[in-house]
Formats: sequence, C-alpha cells, structure tokens
Amino acid sequence: MKLDFILNGEDVSCQAEAGDRLSEILRDRFSLLGVKSDCRSGHCGLCLVSLNGRTVPACLVPAFRVRGSEVITIEGFEQTDEYSDLREGFRKSGAEPCEFCRGALLLAAASLLEERPRPEAQEILERLSTVFCRCHDPAALVRGVQTAAELRARRMYFRAHR
Ligand code: FES
Ligand code: FES
Repeated sequence: MKLDFILNGEDVSCQAEAGDRLSEILRDRFSLLGVKSDCRSGHCGLCLVSLNGRTVPACLVPAFRVRGSEVITIEGFEQTDEYSDLREGFRKSGAEPCEFCRGALLLAAASLLEERPRPEAQEILERLSTVFCRCHDPAALVRGVQTAAELRARRMYFRAHR
C-alpha cells in the first residue's frame, strides 16, 4: 500500500506492507535510527514517536494508521525549542542518558511538559519509567526535566511579552 503522511514537518510517501509497523517504516524506509527497535511489543518504550500530537510506541502502530498522519521522531524534535530546553536542563542537572534511550526519554519528557508545565517529581518518574532503562540516575533526570520546565516557562514568558 502507498502511504502519504507528514514526517518531521515534510510531506513524504512510501510503500508498505499491511503487516509493517511504524517503527520499521521509519527505520527501514527513512533511515530514522533514533527510533529504536527492541521489544517490538509496546513494553520498552524505546521506539516512542509523536503521532498526531500523542506520544506512542511506534512498534504498535500498524501501517494503515500512518496514512494521512503527522509523525515526529527524535530527529524532528531536535529542531525545536522544546528540545533545546530539555537538552539544556539535562546538561545542567548532569543527566546523561545513553544514545539507546535518549530519544525516547526526551520525547516522553516533552509530552509530560506539554500536559503539565510544572510537573512534580513523582509525575516525572512515572512518565519516564515508560522508557526502559536501568542505568540512568532518576534524581538527575527529575532535576533535568524540572530545569527544562523553568527554561520553557521563561522562554514562553518572553515570547508572550515581546
Ligand atoms: S520496541 Fe516499541 S515499545 Fe519496545
Ligand atoms: S538505557 Fe540509556 S542510560 Fe540506560
């Protein structure tokens, strides 16, 4: 089947089989390797992407649902101010997720900040626990997201009062 959709802000098109999943489409057809492919069953969270504004595991999205949708991967998210806030927040807090989980953690954190601009530590831990990782420091990640929340609030204030 032919799939037309918006990927990281651009109109794209590709061929897919009925059994293909969005994670495979992104990695195999578009070489977006920031979308990790691990459990392929919705459990590890490492393949998170934004689909029509909702953060979802791409391995659970069948090809037919991709048609006409808007998809943002970590590669697209890296072009945004929200990414800069999180990158700076993580840097300041000493949170250094590895390349394997970094993209999914940042997308999960970004989706939380969209919903809750000033999240509590417990909310951050709950949201980030949807991404499998045993090695990062939870306290540093909480500080990183809360620092990013402050940077984001400041940026939005200045934008509103420019
Ligand atoms: S590869 Fe998609 S949730 Fe694990
Ligand atoms: S899997 Fe990336 S820091 Fe643990």
